[in-house]
Amino acid sequence: MLQVITSIEDIKQRIKTFKENQLSIGFVPTMGALHEGHLSLVRQARKENDKAVVSIFVNPLQFGINEDFTRYPKMFDNDCELLSKEDVDIVFNPKAAEMYPNGFCTSVIMEHLEDKLCGKSRPGHFRGVAAVVLKLFNLVKPDAAYFGQKDFQQTVVIKSMVADLNLDVNIKVLPTIRDKEGLALSSRNAYLSETEKNDALCLYKALIKAQTMANAGAKNAREITAEMEEIINNCKSAKIDYISIVNPETLEAVSEVQHGDVDALAVRIGKTRLIDNIILFFLLAVMWLSSYS
Ligand code: PAJ
Repeated sequence: MLQVITSIEDIKQRIKTFKENQLSIGFVPTMGALHEGHLSLVRQARKENDKAVVSIFVNPLQFGINEDFTRYPKMFDNDCELLSKEDVDIVFNPKAAEMYPNGFCTSVIMEHLEDKLCGKSRPGHFRGVAAVVLKLFNLVKPDAAYFGQKDFQQTVVIKSMVADLNLDVNIKVLPTIRDKEGLALSSRNAYLSETEKNDALCLYKALIKAQTMANAGAKNAREITAEMEEIINNCKSAKIDYISIVNPETLEAVSEVQHGDVDALAVRIGKTRLIDNIILFFLLAVMWLSSYS
Protein backbone atom coordinates (compact mmCIF):
# COMPACT_ATOMS: atom_id res chain seq x y z
CA MET A 1 0.00 0.00 0.00
CA LEU A 2 1.21 3.50 -0.87
CA GLN A 3 2.56 5.36 2.13
CA VAL A 4 2.85 9.15 2.00
CA ILE A 5 5.85 10.49 3.93
CA THR A 6 6.40 14.20 4.39
CA SER A 7 9.12 14.51 7.04
CA ILE A 8 12.84 13.90 6.69
CA GLU A 9 12.96 11.96 9.95
CA ASP A 10 10.21 9.58 8.78
CA ILE A 11 11.78 8.87 5.39
CA LYS A 12 15.11 8.15 7.09
CA GLN A 13 13.45 5.66 9.46
CA ARG A 14 11.54 3.91 6.68
CA ILE A 15 14.62 3.63 4.45
CA LYS A 16 16.60 2.29 7.43
CA THR A 17 14.19 -0.64 7.78
CA PHE A 18 14.41 -1.37 4.03
CA LYS A 19 18.19 -1.44 4.29
CA GLU A 20 18.15 -3.62 7.41
CA ASN A 21 16.03 -6.10 5.45
CA GLN A 22 18.39 -5.89 2.47
CA LEU A 23 15.64 -4.69 0.17
CA SER A 24 16.72 -2.94 -3.02
CA ILE A 25 15.30 0.54 -3.61
CA GLY A 26 14.33 2.03 -6.97
CA PHE A 27 13.82 5.80 -6.88
CA VAL A 28 12.06 8.22 -9.23
CA PRO A 29 12.45 11.93 -8.35
CA THR A 30 9.66 14.12 -9.76
CA MET A 31 7.96 17.47 -9.33
CA GLY A 32 4.51 15.90 -9.63
CA ALA A 33 1.63 16.54 -12.08
CA LEU A 34 2.45 13.03 -13.19
CA HIS A 35 1.91 11.75 -16.73
CA GLU A 36 2.82 8.64 -18.72
CA GLY A 37 6.44 9.85 -19.03
CA HIS A 38 6.85 9.79 -15.25
CA LEU A 39 4.92 6.54 -15.01
CA SER A 40 7.25 4.80 -17.49
CA LEU A 41 10.08 5.48 -15.01
CA VAL A 42 7.96 4.35 -12.07
CA ARG A 43 7.09 1.06 -13.80
CA GLN A 44 10.75 0.32 -14.48
CA ALA A 45 11.70 1.16 -10.88
CA ARG A 46 8.88 -1.10 -9.67
CA LYS A 47 9.97 -3.95 -11.95
CA GLU A 48 13.65 -3.86 -11.07
CA ASN A 49 13.59 -3.36 -7.29
CA ASP A 50 12.06 -4.70 -4.08
CA LYS A 51 10.81 -1.24 -3.11
CA ALA A 52 9.75 1.69 -5.31
CA VAL A 53 10.01 5.22 -3.93
CA VAL A 54 8.82 8.35 -5.78
CA SER A 55 9.44 11.90 -4.60
CA ILE A 56 7.10 14.76 -5.43
CA PHE A 57 8.74 18.08 -4.66
CA VAL A 58 8.54 21.30 -6.67
CA ASN A 59 12.09 22.36 -5.97
CA PRO A 60 12.36 26.15 -5.52
CA LEU A 61 16.15 26.06 -6.02
CA GLN A 62 15.88 25.12 -9.68
CA PHE A 63 13.50 27.92 -10.73
CA GLY A 64 14.69 31.37 -11.79
CA ILE A 65 12.97 34.50 -10.42
CA ASN A 66 10.80 35.01 -13.51
CA GLU A 67 9.97 31.35 -13.99
CA ASP A 68 6.84 29.35 -13.22
CA PHE A 69 7.59 28.15 -9.66
CA THR A 70 4.40 29.54 -8.11
CA ARG A 71 2.10 28.35 -10.89
CA TYR A 72 3.75 24.95 -11.49
CA PRO A 73 0.82 22.47 -11.77
CA LYS A 74 0.00 20.69 -8.49
CA MET A 75 -2.17 17.56 -8.51
CA PHE A 76 -1.03 15.69 -5.42
CA ASP A 77 -4.15 13.59 -4.80
CA ASN A 78 -4.38 12.51 -8.41
CA ASP A 79 -0.63 11.74 -8.43
CA CYS A 80 -1.02 9.50 -5.36
CA GLU A 81 -3.87 7.66 -7.03
CA LEU A 82 -1.70 6.98 -10.09
CA LEU A 83 1.24 5.86 -7.93
CA SER A 84 -1.00 3.62 -5.88
CA LYS A 85 -2.14 1.87 -9.08
CA GLU A 86 1.53 1.29 -10.00
CA ASP A 87 2.07 -0.39 -6.64
CA VAL A 88 4.59 2.20 -5.46
CA ASP A 89 5.61 1.78 -1.81
CA ILE A 90 6.41 5.34 -0.78
CA VAL A 91 5.74 8.83 -2.04
CA PHE A 92 8.06 11.32 -0.38
CA ASN A 93 6.56 14.81 -0.38
CA PRO A 94 8.77 17.02 1.77
CA LYS A 95 8.17 20.66 2.68
CA ALA A 96 10.48 23.28 1.20
CA ALA A 97 11.03 24.72 4.69
CA GLU A 98 12.45 21.40 5.87
CA MET A 99 14.51 20.76 2.74
CA TYR A 100 15.95 24.28 2.82
CA PRO A 101 15.90 25.62 6.38
CA ASN A 102 17.26 29.08 7.15
CA GLY A 103 20.98 29.05 6.66
CA PHE A 104 20.96 26.49 3.85
CA CYS A 105 23.91 27.52 1.69
CA THR A 106 25.35 24.51 -0.14
CA SER A 107 25.50 24.29 -3.94
CA VAL A 108 26.64 21.65 -6.34
CA ILE A 109 28.48 23.38 -9.16
CA MET A 110 28.78 21.49 -12.43
CA GLU A 111 31.58 23.25 -14.24
CA HIS A 112 31.42 23.06 -18.07
CA LEU A 113 27.98 21.40 -18.02
CA GLU A 114 25.67 23.94 -16.44
CA ASP A 115 26.45 26.86 -18.75
CA LYS A 116 25.47 25.05 -21.96
CA LEU A 117 22.11 24.43 -23.73
CA CYS A 118 19.31 25.13 -21.20
CA GLY A 119 21.84 26.42 -18.67
CA LYS A 120 22.42 29.53 -20.81
CA SER A 121 18.88 30.81 -20.47
CA ARG A 122 18.27 29.24 -17.03
CA PRO A 123 21.30 30.28 -14.95
CA GLY A 124 21.47 28.39 -11.65
CA HIS A 125 18.90 25.82 -12.78
CA PHE A 126 21.22 22.80 -12.88
CA ARG A 127 22.84 23.70 -9.54
CA GLY A 128 19.37 23.62 -8.07
CA VAL A 129 18.62 20.27 -9.73
CA ALA A 130 21.93 18.75 -8.62
CA ALA A 131 21.52 19.98 -5.03
CA VAL A 132 18.01 18.57 -4.62
CA VAL A 133 18.83 15.27 -6.32
CA LEU A 134 21.91 14.84 -4.11
CA LYS A 135 19.81 15.55 -1.00
CA LEU A 136 17.12 13.12 -2.15
CA PHE A 137 19.73 10.43 -2.90
CA ASN A 138 21.14 10.91 0.62
CA LEU A 139 17.69 10.49 2.13
CA VAL A 140 16.31 7.67 -0.04
CA LYS A 141 19.65 5.84 -0.54
CA PRO A 142 18.45 4.21 -3.78
CA ASP A 143 20.22 1.35 -5.50
CA ALA A 144 18.94 2.70 -8.82
CA ALA A 145 17.42 6.04 -9.82
CA TYR A 146 15.38 6.57 -12.99
CA PHE A 147 15.44 9.65 -15.24
CA GLY A 148 13.91 10.52 -18.62
CA GLN A 149 15.90 11.23 -21.79
CA LYS A 150 13.43 14.09 -22.33
CA ASP A 151 15.52 16.17 -19.89
CA PHE A 152 18.75 15.22 -21.60
CA GLN A 153 21.05 17.83 -20.03
CA GLN A 154 19.69 16.90 -16.60
CA THR A 155 20.71 13.26 -17.18
CA VAL A 156 24.24 14.34 -18.13
CA VAL A 157 24.52 16.57 -15.05
CA ILE A 158 23.26 13.83 -12.71
CA LYS A 159 25.51 11.15 -14.22
CA SER A 160 28.52 13.46 -13.85
CA MET A 161 27.65 14.28 -10.25
CA VAL A 162 27.30 10.59 -9.43
CA ALA A 163 30.65 9.78 -11.05
CA ASP A 164 32.53 12.80 -9.67
CA LEU A 165 31.27 12.35 -6.10
CA ASN A 166 31.44 8.52 -6.14
CA LEU A 167 27.77 8.14 -5.26
CA ASP A 168 26.63 4.58 -4.93
CA VAL A 169 23.60 4.71 -7.20
CA ASN A 170 22.95 3.28 -10.60
CA ILE A 171 21.51 5.96 -12.94
CA LYS A 172 19.07 4.66 -15.55
CA VAL A 173 17.89 6.82 -18.42
CA LEU A 174 14.67 5.81 -20.18
CA PRO A 175 13.28 6.98 -23.53
CA THR A 176 11.07 10.02 -24.00
CA ILE A 177 7.36 9.22 -23.98
CA ARG A 178 5.33 11.18 -26.56
CA ASP A 179 1.66 11.62 -27.34
CA LYS A 180 0.37 9.97 -30.50
CA GLU A 181 1.33 12.97 -32.62
CA GLY A 182 4.88 13.13 -31.29
CA LEU A 183 4.69 15.89 -28.67
CA ALA A 184 6.93 14.93 -25.74
CA LEU A 185 4.81 14.62 -22.60
CA SER A 186 5.59 17.30 -20.02
CA SER A 187 3.83 18.68 -16.96
CA ARG A 188 4.24 22.10 -18.62
CA ASN A 189 2.07 21.03 -21.60
CA ALA A 190 -0.83 21.88 -19.25
CA TYR A 191 -0.04 25.57 -19.92
CA LEU A 192 -0.67 25.18 -23.68
CA SER A 193 -3.95 26.10 -25.38
CA GLU A 194 -5.26 23.68 -28.02
CA THR A 195 -3.78 25.84 -30.81
CA GLU A 196 -0.45 26.05 -29.01
CA LYS A 197 -0.42 22.29 -28.51
CA ASN A 198 -0.72 21.92 -32.24
CA ASP A 199 2.02 24.52 -32.82
CA ALA A 200 4.24 22.65 -30.35
CA LEU A 201 4.42 19.74 -32.79
CA CYS A 202 7.02 21.76 -34.72
CA LEU A 203 9.65 20.62 -32.18
CA TYR A 204 9.11 16.98 -33.04
CA LYS A 205 8.81 17.70 -36.77
CA ALA A 206 12.17 19.48 -36.67
CA LEU A 207 13.80 16.57 -34.83
CA ILE A 208 12.36 14.07 -37.30
CA LYS A 209 13.70 16.19 -40.16
CA ALA A 210 17.16 16.03 -38.56
CA GLN A 211 17.00 12.25 -38.26
CA THR A 212 15.79 11.95 -41.86
CA MET A 213 18.71 14.08 -43.05
CA ALA A 214 21.15 11.97 -41.01
CA ASN A 215 19.66 8.82 -42.56
CA ALA A 216 20.31 10.33 -45.98
CA GLY A 217 23.96 10.89 -45.04
CA ALA A 218 23.98 14.53 -43.88
CA LYS A 219 26.78 15.15 -41.39
CA ASN A 220 27.09 18.91 -41.32
CA ALA A 221 25.48 20.07 -38.07
CA ARG A 222 24.91 23.62 -39.33
CA GLU A 223 23.09 22.32 -42.42
CA ILE A 224 20.83 20.13 -40.27
CA THR A 225 20.03 22.80 -37.68
CA ALA A 226 19.30 25.34 -40.45
CA GLU A 227 16.56 23.03 -41.80
CA MET A 228 15.21 22.60 -38.30
CA GLU A 229 15.17 26.37 -37.74
CA GLU A 230 13.15 26.82 -40.90
CA ILE A 231 10.50 24.34 -39.74
CA ILE A 232 10.19 26.04 -36.36
CA ASN A 233 10.26 29.58 -37.69
CA ASN A 234 7.35 28.67 -39.95
CA CYS A 235 5.24 28.36 -36.85
CA LYS A 236 4.09 31.85 -35.75
CA SER A 237 3.84 31.26 -31.99
CA ALA A 238 7.29 29.57 -31.80
CA LYS A 239 10.46 31.35 -30.72
CA ILE A 240 13.70 29.36 -30.75
CA ASP A 241 15.82 29.50 -27.59
CA TYR A 242 18.46 27.11 -29.00
CA ILE A 243 18.93 24.23 -31.41
CA SER A 244 22.20 22.40 -31.03
CA ILE A 245 23.76 19.08 -31.93
CA VAL A 246 26.10 18.09 -29.13
CA ASN A 247 28.41 15.40 -27.88
CA PRO A 248 26.30 13.33 -25.43
CA GLU A 249 28.89 13.49 -22.64
CA THR A 250 30.56 16.90 -22.89
CA LEU A 251 27.54 18.78 -24.28
CA GLU A 252 29.97 20.57 -26.64
CA ALA A 253 28.37 21.52 -29.97
CA VAL A 254 29.70 19.42 -32.84
CA SER A 255 30.27 20.64 -36.39
CA GLU A 256 30.38 17.17 -37.96
CA VAL A 257 27.70 14.85 -36.61
CA GLN A 258 28.70 11.42 -35.31
CA HIS A 259 26.51 8.43 -34.52
CA GLY A 260 25.03 8.93 -31.01
CA ASP A 261 25.28 12.73 -30.90
CA VAL A 262 22.24 14.42 -29.40
CA ASP A 263 20.14 16.96 -31.25
CA ALA A 264 18.56 19.13 -28.54
CA LEU A 265 16.30 22.15 -28.68
CA ALA A 266 14.35 24.57 -26.53
CA VAL A 267 11.52 26.57 -28.05
CA ARG A 268 9.02 28.97 -26.57
CA ILE A 269 5.46 28.36 -27.71
CA GLY A 270 3.70 31.53 -26.60
CA LYS A 271 4.79 31.88 -22.96
CA THR A 272 5.66 28.22 -22.45
CA ARG A 273 9.25 27.02 -22.85
CA LEU A 274 9.43 23.45 -24.16
CA ILE A 275 12.46 21.21 -24.60
CA ASP A 276 13.00 18.05 -26.61
CA ASN A 277 15.84 16.04 -28.15
CA ILE A 278 16.71 12.91 -30.08
CA ILE A 279 19.78 10.76 -30.23
CA LEU A 280 20.89 10.88 -33.86
CA PHE A 281 21.82 7.58 -35.38
CA PHE A 282 23.34 6.68 -38.71
CA LEU A 283 21.84 3.60 -40.29
CA LEU A 284 25.22 2.39 -41.53
CA ALA A 285 26.71 2.63 -38.04
CA VAL A 286 23.74 0.73 -36.60
CA MET A 287 24.12 -2.04 -39.21
CA TRP A 288 27.88 -2.18 -38.61
CA LEU A 289 27.47 -2.34 -34.81
CA SER A 290 24.73 -4.98 -34.96
CA SER A 291 26.87 -7.21 -37.20
CA TYR A 292 29.35 -7.37 -34.27
CA SER A 293 26.83 -8.09 -31.50
P1 PAJ B 1 9.95 16.38 -13.59
O1 PAJ B 1 9.91 17.39 -14.67
O2 PAJ B 1 8.71 16.12 -12.80
O3 PAJ B 1 10.42 15.02 -14.22
C1 PAJ B 1 10.67 13.90 -13.42
C2 PAJ B 1 11.32 12.84 -14.29
O4 PAJ B 1 10.41 12.45 -15.33
C3 PAJ B 1 12.60 13.35 -14.98
O5 PAJ B 1 13.59 12.34 -14.97
C4 PAJ B 1 12.11 13.62 -16.40
O6 PAJ B 1 13.13 13.54 -17.38
C5 PAJ B 1 11.09 12.50 -16.57
N1 PAJ B 1 10.16 12.81 -17.67
C6 PAJ B 1 9.44 13.94 -17.84
N2 PAJ B 1 8.78 13.90 -19.02
C7 PAJ B 1 9.08 12.71 -19.60
C8 PAJ B 1 8.71 12.06 -20.82
N3 PAJ B 1 7.89 12.62 -21.70
N4 PAJ B 1 9.23 10.84 -21.08
C9 PAJ B 1 10.09 10.24 -20.21
N5 PAJ B 1 10.47 10.80 -19.02
C10 PAJ B 1 9.98 12.01 -18.72
O7 PAJ B 1 12.92 16.57 -13.86
C11 PAJ B 1 12.41 16.95 -12.82
O8 PAJ B 1 11.08 16.77 -12.50
C12 PAJ B 1 13.21 17.65 -11.73
O9 PAJ B 1 14.23 18.40 -12.32
C13 PAJ B 1 13.79 16.68 -10.67
C14 PAJ B 1 14.75 15.66 -11.27
C15 PAJ B 1 12.65 15.95 -9.94
C16 PAJ B 1 14.58 17.49 -9.61
O10 PAJ B 1 13.77 18.43 -9.01
